Amino acid sequence: MRYFPTTLDRAQSDAVAERLQRHFDTHGYGPWALEIPGVTPFAGFVGLMRVGYDVPFAPAVEIGWRLARPFWGAGYATEAARSVTQFAFGALGLPGLVSFTVPANARSRAVMTRIGMQHCVGEDFMHPLVPPGHRLRRHVLYRLAASATGPSE
Ligand SMILES: CC(C)(COP(=O)(O)OP(=O)(O)OC[C@H]1O[C@@H](n2cnc3c(N)ncnc32)[C@H](O)[C@@H]1OP(=O)(O)O)[C@@H](O)C(=O)NCCC(=O)NCCS
Repeated sequence: MRYFPTTLDRAQSDAVAERLQRHFDTHGYGPWALEIPGVTPFAGFVGLMRVGYDVPFAPAVEIGWRLARPFWGAGYATEAARSVTQFAFGALGLPGLVSFTVPANARSRAVMTRIGMQHCVGEDFMHPLVPPGHRLRRHVLYRLAASATGPSE
């Protein structure tokens, strides 16, 4: 959580889980639990979220990921993200995806690059949910167009 403004206590974490469940109920997709067969039933999440706040690139669907530390460094986030893009552009028929993080989050940016996303420098933005003046306010914006990927399986 180093690149997020705060960590979450149990009540806040439960509230996030409920909000994400409502996202699935409303849209039929969301941040899926990442199961690694034979390793763990829950390594974290990789999935899709509607951008629900006021930013210049909204409306948009974000692809995002968050894995528990023991599961970093094995390619799991990238493998799952590739599956998610195929689902987004195939079954869901979305025209494109965005992803964003703070400039210093090199691991997250590396996943974006590995799945073919492009950094749109002119669209970098100040995150509206991070207080003005906060060191984590500036975000880099990446995009992936459905037309930039091959046919889905
Ligand atoms: C962002 C995050 C999911 C990236 O995790 P990650 O493990 O670096 O990414 P991947 O799962 O794609 O793994 C890539 C690494 O596995 C290695 N790897 C091993 N086998 C691999 C394979 N078959 N395919 C791809 N990579 C493989 C890669 O070389 C790379 O190694 P590195 O650690 O030397 O860079 C993770 O750092 C995280 O959860 N961070 C905290 C939450 C966060 O910041 N989320 C994003 C907020 S916007």
